[in-house]
Amino acid sequence: MSKQAVLKLDDNEFAFPTIEGVEDEKAVDFRSLRSTTGYVAYDEGYGNTGSCQSEITFIDGEAGILRYRGIPIEQLAEQSDFLESSYMILYGDLPSQSQLHEFRSRVRDNAAVSPLMAEALKGFAADAPPMGVLGSMLGALSCYNPELATNDRAVDLENFDQAAAVAIAQTATAAALAFRSSQGKEGNAPDPSLSFGDNFLHLMFSEKGQPYEAIPEVSRALDLMLLLHADHEQNCSTSTVRMVASGGANLFASVAAGSAALWGPAHGGANMAVIKMLEEIRASGDDGSSFIEEAKSGQSGKRLMGFGHRVYKNFDPRAKIIGKACEELLDKMGIDDPCLDIARNLEQAALADDYFVSRNLYPNVDFYSGIVLRALGIPADMFTVMFAIGRMPGWVANWREIAMNPKMKINRPRQIYQGPALRDYVPMESRG
Ligand code: CMC
Repeated sequence: MSKQAVLKLDDNEFAFPTIEGVEDEKAVDFRSLRSTTGYVAYDEGYGNTGSCQSEITFIDGEAGILRYRGIPIEQLAEQSDFLESSYMILYGDLPSQSQLHEFRSRVRDNAAVSPLMAEALKGFAADAPPMGVLGSMLGALSCYNPELATNDRAVDLENFDQAAAVAIAQTATAAALAFRSSQGKEGNAPDPSLSFGDNFLHLMFSEKGQPYEAIPEVSRALDLMLLLHADHEQNCSTSTVRMVASGGANLFASVAAGSAALWGPAHGGANMAVIKMLEEIRASGDDGSSFIEEAKSGQSGKRLMGFGHRVYKNFDPRAKIIGKACEELLDKMGIDDPCLDIARNLEQAALADDYFVSRNLYPNVDFYSGIVLRALGIPADMFTVMFAIGRMPGWVANWREIAMNPKMKINRPRQIYQGPALRDYVPMESRG
């Protein structure tokens, strides 16, 4: 029998069961709290709330551990690739040769967006924010593929393999088409001979008469970037996907909501904010120390972007991998990016500073990812879109976990009302 947690309220005691995860994570099961005590659990920001039981990703924030389906991120970064890891995130296990072949083919064969969607993408203003365009297009996938987005769970699950491939492949295609359209350029057609990442770079950058030539270091760095972003348990955007999915919404509607949640600078927008910060520091001639002082004072509203994490109270393991990959990429490509020196200075200074140490603020995945993306030729306003392309398998897998759970209830938190107490309507002529 599981341990019981006892809550004492006035003279009454209430017992609640506990739940243990496979990695010794412990939770008090408060599902009957309100019906038995009249109280609800108050946890603004959800720092102490387990919103679900999931089998996809494990994070130990204190130890700096991240695993997809049980496999450490370090092993996947070294030995797997984005699509193989995506398969495992979606379906639970590493694929066999034939399963992987079939999955890669399905993603490749679904890379082209419908001609109507390609036309719609041209309708956005050239300076439209790419995340705004992406969110609209993800939602619109349900209009261009209505047979995959019926909001009937059984039907949507039957078509899951196809819908997942469309979501993963066409996020990248739509993003590249929107980018080219914003540059006043015609879109490129997907090239089925290329890997997922190389095809994306081809869609973005190939020009007529100059076919895309893959550079192994670039291909590897982009694939690694995507793999490292592929899932991250119940973060803001993934929780949003699950919230929307819990109402029975189709996959495309759910991931469109996830992409909106990703947009903000505290979440996926941080990679853009890091580069902006590094550029500002460079332009001011500061070596980073004045900025650190400003971020510590909190008065200017500035934060050291790319530092800190709700869950990691130790190094984000993705930051370690990407920091190393960043150095190697720049080295191999012969790129001298002054922002890298500033980033290194900031990291060293922050890791030796009591403000950051005492608050357990370490570099997160975004601290170096912007420098990598810049070296790959991706413009800064597309950085968060790159995060979305990488995170798509995680969002899709979380949608599937909800859709496959027959006991799933609609997600509906409670609140503590603090507005005016009961009062009467005052007719207009009697208002002061
Ligand atoms: N720079 C300076 N101070 C910070 C920072 C930072 N980057 N992050 C947190 N703090 C301070 C904060 O001011 C607070 O200090 P005090 O206790 O004196 O009030 C303390 O650390 C705790 O901060 P918090 O905001 O309560 O922590 P949180 O868990 O709610 O926020 C976070 C996590 C990631 C939103 C935050 O650390 C942050 O804003 N970081 C910068 C943005 C960033 O890099 N985001 C990307 C996250 S990783 C990618 C992803 O998964 O989305």
